[in-house]
Amino acid sequence: MKEMSLADGSTIPSVGLGLWKIDQGQTANVVESAIGMGYRHLDAACDYGNEAEAGEGIQRALATGVCQREDLWVTSKLWNTYHAKAHVRMAVERSLADLKLDYLDLYLVHFPIAQRFVPFDHRYPPEWFFDPAAPSPRIETAPVPIAETWGAMESLVTAGLVKRIGVCNFGCSLLRDLLSYASIRPSVLQVESHPYLTQEKLLRYCQSEKIGYTAFSPLGAQSYFSLGMAEESESLLNHSLIHEVAAGQRRSPAQVLLRWGIQRGTAVVPKSANQQRLAENLKVFDFELTEAEMRSISGLNRNRRFNDPGDFCESAFNTFFPIYE
Ligand code: A2P
Repeated sequence: MKEMSLADGSTIPSVGLGLWKIDQGQTANVVESAIGMGYRHLDAACDYGNEAEAGEGIQRALATGVCQREDLWVTSKLWNTYHAKAHVRMAVERSLADLKLDYLDLYLVHFPIAQRFVPFDHRYPPEWFFDPAAPSPRIETAPVPIAETWGAMESLVTAGLVKRIGVCNFGCSLLRDLLSYASIRPSVLQVESHPYLTQEKLLRYCQSEKIGYTAFSPLGAQSYFSLGMAEESESLLNHSLIHEVAAGQRRSPAQVLLRWGIQRGTAVVPKSANQQRLAENLKVFDFELTEAEMRSISGLNRNRRFNDPGDFCESAFNTFFPIYE
Protein backbone atom coordinates (compact mmCIF):
# COMPACT_ATOMS: atom_id res chain seq x y z
CA MET A 1 0.00 0.00 0.00
CA LYS A 2 3.02 2.27 0.37
CA GLU A 3 3.31 1.96 -3.38
CA MET A 4 0.72 1.94 -6.16
CA SER A 5 1.37 -0.73 -8.82
CA LEU A 6 1.41 0.25 -12.46
CA ALA A 7 0.77 -1.77 -15.59
CA ASP A 8 4.47 -1.96 -16.54
CA GLY A 9 5.30 -3.73 -13.27
CA SER A 10 6.76 -0.62 -11.66
CA THR A 11 5.39 1.06 -8.54
CA ILE A 12 4.87 4.68 -7.61
CA PRO A 13 5.10 5.81 -3.96
CA SER A 14 1.50 6.31 -2.79
CA VAL A 15 2.24 9.61 -1.07
CA GLY A 16 4.00 12.25 -3.13
CA LEU A 17 4.80 15.86 -2.44
CA GLY A 18 2.68 18.18 -4.55
CA LEU A 19 4.72 21.22 -5.58
CA TRP A 20 1.82 23.41 -6.75
CA LYS A 21 1.77 26.71 -4.85
CA ILE A 22 5.03 26.21 -2.96
CA ASP A 23 6.69 29.65 -3.15
CA GLN A 24 9.79 29.74 -5.30
CA GLY A 25 11.80 31.03 -2.35
CA GLN A 26 10.84 28.05 -0.19
CA THR A 27 10.85 25.27 -2.76
CA ALA A 28 14.49 24.15 -2.62
CA ASN A 29 14.41 23.86 1.18
CA VAL A 30 11.02 22.14 1.23
CA VAL A 31 12.08 19.61 -1.40
CA GLU A 32 15.42 18.91 0.28
CA SER A 33 13.84 18.41 3.68
CA ALA A 34 10.94 16.37 2.28
CA ILE A 35 13.40 13.93 0.67
CA GLY A 36 15.36 13.91 3.93
CA MET A 37 12.27 12.87 5.87
CA GLY A 38 11.39 10.08 3.44
CA TYR A 39 9.43 11.51 0.51
CA ARG A 40 10.39 9.64 -2.66
CA HIS A 41 7.74 11.01 -5.02
CA LEU A 42 7.71 14.62 -6.20
CA ASP A 43 4.87 16.00 -8.29
CA ALA A 44 6.17 18.94 -10.32
CA ALA A 45 4.97 20.86 -13.38
CA CYS A 46 6.25 23.59 -15.67
CA ASP A 47 3.20 25.63 -14.71
CA TYR A 48 4.03 25.64 -10.99
CA GLY A 49 6.91 28.00 -11.73
CA ASN A 50 9.29 26.34 -9.27
CA GLU A 51 10.99 23.52 -11.17
CA ALA A 52 14.44 25.15 -11.09
CA GLU A 53 14.16 25.51 -7.31
CA ALA A 54 12.82 21.96 -6.97
CA GLY A 55 15.86 20.81 -8.95
CA GLU A 56 18.12 22.63 -6.52
CA GLY A 57 16.42 20.85 -3.62
CA ILE A 58 16.75 17.47 -5.32
CA GLN A 59 20.44 18.04 -5.99
CA ARG A 60 21.10 19.08 -2.41
CA ALA A 61 19.25 16.04 -1.07
CA LEU A 62 21.11 13.66 -3.39
CA ALA A 63 24.41 15.24 -2.35
CA THR A 64 23.70 14.28 1.28
CA GLY A 65 23.55 10.64 0.19
CA VAL A 66 20.09 10.11 1.69
CA CYS A 67 19.07 8.34 -1.53
CA GLN A 68 20.02 7.93 -5.17
CA ARG A 69 18.28 9.38 -8.20
CA GLU A 70 16.78 5.98 -8.99
CA ASP A 71 15.10 5.89 -5.57
CA LEU A 72 13.12 9.00 -6.47
CA TRP A 73 9.97 9.24 -8.56
CA VAL A 74 9.79 12.60 -10.28
CA THR A 75 6.72 13.62 -12.27
CA SER A 76 6.42 16.75 -14.42
CA LYS A 77 3.71 18.02 -16.75
CA LEU A 78 3.51 19.37 -20.28
CA TRP A 79 1.94 22.82 -20.25
CA ASN A 80 -0.97 23.70 -22.55
CA THR A 81 1.11 25.99 -24.77
CA TYR A 82 3.40 23.14 -25.85
CA HIS A 83 0.92 20.59 -27.22
CA ALA A 84 2.08 20.82 -30.85
CA LYS A 85 4.46 18.09 -32.05
CA ALA A 86 7.17 20.71 -32.59
CA HIS A 87 7.06 21.89 -28.98
CA VAL A 88 6.69 18.80 -26.81
CA ARG A 89 10.35 17.80 -26.78
CA MET A 90 11.63 21.29 -26.05
CA ALA A 91 9.14 21.55 -23.18
CA VAL A 92 10.35 18.37 -21.50
CA GLU A 93 13.96 19.34 -22.10
CA ARG A 94 13.32 22.64 -20.33
CA SER A 95 11.71 20.86 -17.37
CA LEU A 96 14.60 18.39 -17.23
CA ALA A 97 17.16 21.19 -17.35
CA ASP A 98 15.35 23.07 -14.57
CA LEU A 99 14.95 19.96 -12.45
CA LYS A 100 18.60 19.08 -13.19
CA LEU A 101 17.64 15.55 -14.18
CA ASP A 102 18.37 13.47 -17.22
CA TYR A 103 15.05 11.62 -17.18
CA LEU A 104 11.59 11.89 -15.65
CA ASP A 105 9.79 8.94 -14.15
CA LEU A 106 6.50 10.27 -15.48
CA TYR A 107 5.49 13.08 -17.83
CA LEU A 108 1.84 14.05 -17.93
CA VAL A 109 -0.24 16.15 -20.31
CA HIS A 110 -1.40 18.78 -17.78
CA PHE A 111 -4.80 19.56 -19.33
CA PRO A 112 -6.75 18.45 -22.40
CA ILE A 113 -6.41 22.06 -23.53
CA ALA A 114 -4.10 23.25 -26.32
CA GLN A 115 -3.18 26.92 -26.02
CA ARG A 116 -1.36 29.12 -28.49
CA PHE A 117 2.43 28.72 -28.30
CA VAL A 118 4.45 31.22 -26.27
CA PRO A 119 8.24 31.05 -26.85
CA PHE A 120 10.42 30.49 -23.75
CA ASP A 121 12.24 33.77 -24.18
CA HIS A 122 8.92 35.58 -24.26
CA ARG A 123 7.55 34.18 -21.03
CA TYR A 124 8.21 31.08 -18.90
CA PRO A 125 6.13 29.56 -17.55
CA PRO A 126 3.55 31.05 -19.91
CA GLU A 127 0.49 30.35 -17.74
CA TRP A 128 -3.02 30.90 -19.06
CA PHE A 129 -3.11 34.27 -20.85
CA PHE A 130 -1.63 34.46 -24.31
CA ASP A 131 -0.72 38.12 -23.81
CA PRO A 132 -1.20 39.40 -20.27
CA ALA A 133 -0.42 42.95 -21.49
CA ALA A 134 -3.26 43.00 -24.05
CA PRO A 135 -6.09 45.49 -23.38
CA SER A 136 -8.45 42.61 -22.60
CA PRO A 137 -6.23 39.55 -22.10
CA ARG A 138 -7.74 36.17 -22.89
CA ILE A 139 -6.81 32.52 -23.21
CA GLU A 140 -6.05 31.73 -26.85
CA THR A 141 -6.30 28.15 -28.05
CA ALA A 142 -4.44 26.24 -30.75
CA PRO A 143 -6.08 23.58 -32.94
CA VAL A 144 -3.86 20.69 -31.82
CA PRO A 145 -5.52 17.28 -31.51
CA ILE A 146 -4.60 15.23 -28.46
CA ALA A 147 -3.50 12.44 -30.83
CA GLU A 148 -0.70 14.72 -32.10
CA THR A 149 0.41 15.56 -28.58
CA TRP A 150 0.30 11.92 -27.55
CA GLY A 151 2.44 10.85 -30.51
CA ALA A 152 5.06 13.39 -29.44
CA MET A 153 4.81 12.20 -25.82
CA GLU A 154 5.44 8.62 -27.03
CA SER A 155 8.59 9.81 -28.82
CA LEU A 156 9.92 11.08 -25.48
CA VAL A 157 9.71 7.56 -24.06
CA THR A 158 11.47 6.16 -27.11
CA ALA A 159 14.18 8.82 -26.76
CA GLY A 160 14.72 7.86 -23.09
CA LEU A 161 13.83 11.31 -21.76
CA VAL A 162 10.88 10.02 -19.76
CA LYS A 163 10.14 6.53 -18.47
CA ARG A 164 6.36 6.78 -18.62
CA ILE A 165 3.68 9.10 -19.92
CA GLY A 166 0.18 9.89 -18.80
CA VAL A 167 -2.51 12.54 -18.65
CA CYS A 168 -4.28 14.80 -16.18
CA ASN A 169 -7.82 16.09 -16.05
CA PHE A 170 -9.19 13.59 -18.57
CA GLY A 171 -12.55 11.86 -18.18
CA CYS A 172 -13.49 8.36 -19.36
CA SER A 173 -14.43 9.47 -22.90
CA LEU A 174 -11.10 11.16 -23.59
CA LEU A 175 -9.21 8.24 -22.07
CA ARG A 176 -11.13 5.73 -24.14
CA ASP A 177 -10.39 7.71 -27.27
CA LEU A 178 -6.69 7.95 -26.35
CA LEU A 179 -6.49 4.19 -25.78
CA SER A 180 -7.90 3.58 -29.25
CA TYR A 181 -4.73 4.88 -30.91
CA ALA A 182 -1.99 4.95 -28.26
CA SER A 183 0.95 2.71 -29.01
CA ILE A 184 2.26 3.55 -25.53
CA ARG A 185 -0.62 3.52 -23.07
CA PRO A 186 -0.96 6.15 -20.36
CA SER A 187 0.56 4.84 -17.11
CA VAL A 188 -1.26 7.29 -14.89
CA LEU A 189 -4.25 9.62 -14.82
CA GLN A 190 -3.98 12.51 -12.38
CA VAL A 191 -7.24 14.20 -11.39
CA GLU A 192 -8.73 16.13 -8.50
CA SER A 193 -10.05 13.63 -5.99
CA HIS A 194 -11.19 13.81 -2.35
CA PRO A 195 -14.32 12.77 -0.42
CA TYR A 196 -16.36 15.61 -1.95
CA LEU A 197 -15.32 14.44 -5.45
CA THR A 198 -14.89 10.70 -5.28
CA GLN A 199 -15.05 10.05 -9.05
CA GLU A 200 -15.92 6.41 -8.46
CA LYS A 201 -16.69 5.52 -12.08
CA LEU A 202 -13.51 7.18 -13.32
CA LEU A 203 -11.43 5.31 -10.73
CA ARG A 204 -13.13 2.03 -11.60
CA TYR A 205 -12.56 2.64 -15.32
CA CYS A 206 -8.85 3.34 -14.69
CA GLN A 207 -8.54 0.21 -12.60
CA SER A 208 -10.19 -1.87 -15.33
CA GLU A 209 -7.75 -0.42 -17.89
CA LYS A 210 -4.73 -0.73 -15.55
CA ILE A 211 -4.13 3.01 -15.52
CA GLY A 212 -2.76 4.28 -12.19
CA TYR A 213 -4.86 7.01 -10.57
CA THR A 214 -3.26 9.90 -8.70
CA ALA A 215 -5.43 12.25 -6.67
CA PHE A 216 -4.51 15.93 -6.60
CA SER A 217 -5.97 18.16 -3.91
CA PRO A 218 -6.53 15.06 -1.74
CA LEU A 219 -7.30 17.28 1.25
CA GLY A 220 -10.11 19.01 -0.64
CA ALA A 221 -10.85 22.72 -0.51
CA GLN A 222 -7.75 23.82 1.44
CA SER A 223 -5.71 25.05 -1.53
CA TYR A 224 -8.59 26.95 -3.01
CA PHE A 225 -9.54 29.34 -0.19
CA SER A 226 -6.79 31.81 -1.03
CA LEU A 227 -7.75 31.68 -4.71
CA GLY A 228 -11.39 32.47 -3.95
CA MET A 229 -12.38 29.12 -5.45
CA ALA A 230 -13.84 27.54 -2.30
CA GLU A 231 -15.74 28.61 0.80
CA GLU A 232 -14.37 27.93 4.30
CA SER A 233 -17.56 25.96 4.93
CA GLU A 234 -16.43 23.46 2.28
CA SER A 235 -13.39 22.37 4.28
CA LEU A 236 -13.07 18.61 4.66
CA LEU A 237 -10.40 19.11 7.31
CA ASN A 238 -13.10 20.63 9.52
CA HIS A 239 -15.84 18.16 8.65
CA SER A 240 -17.42 16.52 11.71
CA LEU A 241 -17.30 13.01 10.23
CA ILE A 242 -13.61 13.34 9.38
CA HIS A 243 -12.96 14.61 12.91
CA GLU A 244 -14.90 11.73 14.40
CA VAL A 245 -12.92 9.14 12.42
CA ALA A 246 -9.67 10.96 13.22
CA ALA A 247 -10.42 10.95 16.95
CA GLY A 248 -11.27 7.22 16.85
CA GLN A 249 -8.07 6.43 14.96
CA ARG A 250 -5.95 8.89 17.02
CA ARG A 251 -4.85 10.55 13.80
CA SER A 252 -5.24 14.00 12.31
CA PRO A 253 -8.07 14.83 9.87
CA ALA A 254 -5.49 15.20 7.08
CA GLN A 255 -4.12 11.71 7.77
CA VAL A 256 -7.64 10.28 7.58
CA LEU A 257 -8.26 11.97 4.21
CA LEU A 258 -4.95 10.77 2.79
CA ARG A 259 -5.43 7.26 4.15
CA TRP A 260 -8.89 7.12 2.58
CA GLY A 261 -7.32 8.03 -0.77
CA ILE A 262 -4.57 5.43 -0.48
CA GLN A 263 -6.84 2.71 0.80
CA ARG A 264 -9.13 3.05 -2.20
CA GLY A 265 -6.14 2.35 -4.41
CA THR A 266 -5.00 5.80 -5.48
CA ALA A 267 -1.78 7.74 -5.01
CA VAL A 268 -2.08 11.16 -3.36
CA VAL A 269 0.06 14.28 -3.81
CA PRO A 270 -0.67 16.66 -0.92
CA LYS A 271 1.25 19.91 -0.89
CA SER A 272 2.77 21.25 2.27
CA ALA A 273 5.51 23.75 2.90
CA ASN A 274 5.41 23.12 6.64
CA GLN A 275 7.80 20.62 8.27
CA GLN A 276 5.29 19.25 10.73
CA ARG A 277 2.55 18.79 8.14
CA LEU A 278 4.98 17.26 5.64
CA ALA A 279 5.90 14.64 8.23
CA GLU A 280 2.28 14.12 9.24
CA ASN A 281 1.22 13.50 5.64
CA LEU A 282 3.78 10.73 5.25
CA LYS A 283 2.62 8.84 8.36
CA VAL A 284 -0.39 7.13 6.89
CA PHE A 285 0.82 3.56 6.54
CA ASP A 286 0.58 2.33 10.12
CA PHE A 287 -3.19 2.42 10.55
CA GLU A 288 -6.19 1.26 8.58
CA LEU A 289 -9.68 2.64 8.16
CA THR A 290 -12.46 0.12 8.67
CA GLU A 291 -14.77 -0.76 5.81
CA ALA A 292 -17.53 1.19 7.53
CA GLU A 293 -15.27 4.24 7.87
CA MET A 294 -14.27 3.99 4.20
CA ARG A 295 -17.93 3.76 3.17
CA SER A 296 -19.08 6.66 5.30
CA ILE A 297 -16.24 8.91 4.08
CA SER A 298 -17.03 7.99 0.46
CA GLY A 299 -20.64 8.85 1.25
CA LEU A 300 -19.64 12.51 1.63
CA ASN A 301 -19.36 12.79 -2.16
CA ARG A 302 -21.13 15.81 -3.63
CA ASN A 303 -19.32 15.95 -6.98
CA ARG A 304 -17.70 19.21 -5.89
CA ARG A 305 -14.82 20.09 -8.18
CA PHE A 306 -12.73 23.00 -6.91
CA ASN A 307 -10.27 23.06 -9.82
CA ASP A 308 -12.57 23.53 -12.81
CA PRO A 309 -11.44 25.51 -15.88
CA GLY A 310 -15.15 25.98 -16.62
CA ASP A 311 -15.23 28.24 -13.53
CA PHE A 312 -11.78 29.66 -12.88
CA CYS A 313 -10.92 30.52 -16.49
CA GLU A 314 -13.90 32.84 -16.58
CA SER A 315 -13.31 34.50 -13.21
CA ALA A 316 -9.52 34.72 -13.41
CA PHE A 317 -8.77 34.66 -17.16
CA ASN A 318 -11.67 36.41 -18.80
CA THR A 319 -12.49 33.30 -20.88
CA PHE A 320 -15.35 30.83 -20.58
CA PHE A 321 -13.59 27.48 -20.90
CA PRO A 322 -15.55 24.41 -19.78
CA ILE A 323 -13.86 21.02 -20.30
CA TYR A 324 -15.71 18.53 -18.13
CA GLU A 325 -19.25 19.07 -19.41
P1 A2P B 1 0.64 24.16 4.13
O1 A2P B 1 1.61 24.21 3.01
O2 A2P B 1 0.66 25.41 4.95
O3 A2P B 1 0.79 22.91 4.98
P2 A2P B 1 -3.07 20.80 -2.03
O4 A2P B 1 -4.56 20.70 -1.94
O5 A2P B 1 -2.60 21.58 -3.21
O6 A2P B 1 -2.43 19.48 -1.86
O7 A2P B 1 -2.62 21.69 -0.77
C1 A2P B 1 -2.82 21.25 0.53
C2 A2P B 1 -3.20 22.40 1.41
O8 A2P B 1 -3.45 21.92 2.72
C3 A2P B 1 -2.13 23.46 1.57
O9 A2P B 1 -2.77 24.68 1.77
C4 A2P B 1 -1.38 23.01 2.82
O10 A2P B 1 -0.84 24.14 3.50
C5 A2P B 1 -2.46 22.37 3.63
N1 A2P B 1 -2.02 21.17 4.35
C6 A2P B 1 -1.13 20.24 3.92
N2 A2P B 1 -1.00 19.26 4.81
C7 A2P B 1 -1.83 19.56 5.83
C8 A2P B 1 -2.13 18.92 7.06
N3 A2P B 1 -1.54 17.78 7.40
N4 A2P B 1 -3.04 19.51 7.88
C9 A2P B 1 -3.63 20.67 7.52
N5 A2P B 1 -3.38 21.33 6.37
C10 A2P B 1 -2.49 20.77 5.54
